[in-house]
Amino acid sequence: MMKLNLLLSDDVKSRHWEEAENKLLDGVRNGRVGFGWIDLPIRPLEDMAIFAEKLALFPSVVLVGIGGSSLGLETVLRALDDQQGRGSRVFVADNLDSRQNEKIWQCLEPKETAVCVVSKSGRTLETLGNMTWFLCRMEESLGEEQALKHLFVVTDPKEGLLRQWVDDHHVESLALPSDVGGRFSVLSSAALPVIAAAGRDWQGLIQGAAAMREDIISGGASRDAVRALAGALLDGYDSRRAITVFMPYGNALGAVGPWFCQLWAESLGKEGQGFTPQSVLGTIDQHSQLQLYAEGPDDKFFLFLRREDHGSACFELPSRWGFGIEFLNGLPLDEAMDHELSGVVASLRRRGRPCAVFSLEHFDAFSLGGLLFFLQWLTGLAGFVMGIDPFNQPGVEEGKNFALALCGDKKWEHLKGDLSRLACPTVKFQL
Ligand code: PA5
Repeated sequence: MMKLNLLLSDDVKSRHWEEAENKLLDGVRNGRVGFGWIDLPIRPLEDMAIFAEKLALFPSVVLVGIGGSSLGLETVLRALDDQQGRGSRVFVADNLDSRQNEKIWQCLEPKETAVCVVSKSGRTLETLGNMTWFLCRMEESLGEEQALKHLFVVTDPKEGLLRQWVDDHHVESLALPSDVGGRFSVLSSAALPVIAAAGRDWQGLIQGAAAMREDIISGGASRDAVRALAGALLDGYDSRRAITVFMPYGNALGAVGPWFCQLWAESLGKEGQGFTPQSVLGTIDQHSQLQLYAEGPDDKFFLFLRREDHGSACFELPSRWGFGIEFLNGLPLDEAMDHELSGVVASLRRRGRPCAVFSLEHFDAFSLGGLLFFLQWLTGLAGFVMGIDPFNQPGVEEGKNFALALCGDKKWEHLKGDLSRLACPTVKFQL
């Protein structure tokens, strides 16, 4: 089991943890929509592995998806980039940005490229737009029949436009479990096939998540750690510290930041409640945000992440250089980075600003899987303690509907009146 040191600054209030935990466990036991992520680490993965093997035959994979359908994958690829080069090269087409697509296309050899489309709902404008764009380019190069053989789709097993289309056109497809929501899908078929095709250790990832799941559910040290962290964050929230600064140190751990931001914001931001997450990177953002953190408004909770396994690079200062900083000679760079983190924590705590530090003994696929599961549990738990449903996203859906109305979708035409009434005054710049 991975060691997870959670250093918290203060005692936390007791809350109705068991009630919230039971809601999570009852939800997954009863197959309720949104709760399926809890069992993902122990579900069979044969179909996923077969799909991934087919995908891995292509040296390049374009992942078309956005939000929960791309962020989890990107996090794992970046976090485990020391395993890069063992599998397919992956390009992510997430934004609806034609220039980004053109740039990706210029890097591809169509015969050697697979396009993997991931969308839970199968109705997301960005994903449908990018999918059709890449498919048309593939058709121009390979012809219609061949192009479809390079297309792989992961979507709901029954619902959505995409599922219907894929079944009608006999496209290679995989089910994204209907009880799993987008931002909780990193350990599902939404991300695992591309993670596997890219040569990353997906088994390690799942094993780490399964170990964390077991430790939490059986009431082990991780259950206490997740309660303690949720408690500290909620205490902070009660004292008007609704901004969560998520600050991992080092680039690999830093990859988790954008994924956590989506999870934390979209799950808990509803019914007038919620946290505003800010993803920053240590040490880089010490040189950008730290002044604000130390002396600006006391409205933040700071969550630091450190890894204890240090790389071998050291300060090298031959005495003949005479810099006057010879005390640094031989100090591992990562150890110095760790001292920077400790310095920031001390500086914030001296001012009474609430901090928590995660410390991972090792950082690898196994501990990453454990960390992702831990953060998902933290989010679900906090949601139920706050009395909100952490697994829906009505605000996101409304935005999608408005955009579809503007693009001409008859189904949402009735929203057009609202759209013109609610339009924001625009300032035009002409240079
Ligand atoms: O978490 C969510 O539900 C969203 O962020 C979705 O992942 C995002 O909107 C993409 O949706 P879909 O996977 O349905 O294309």
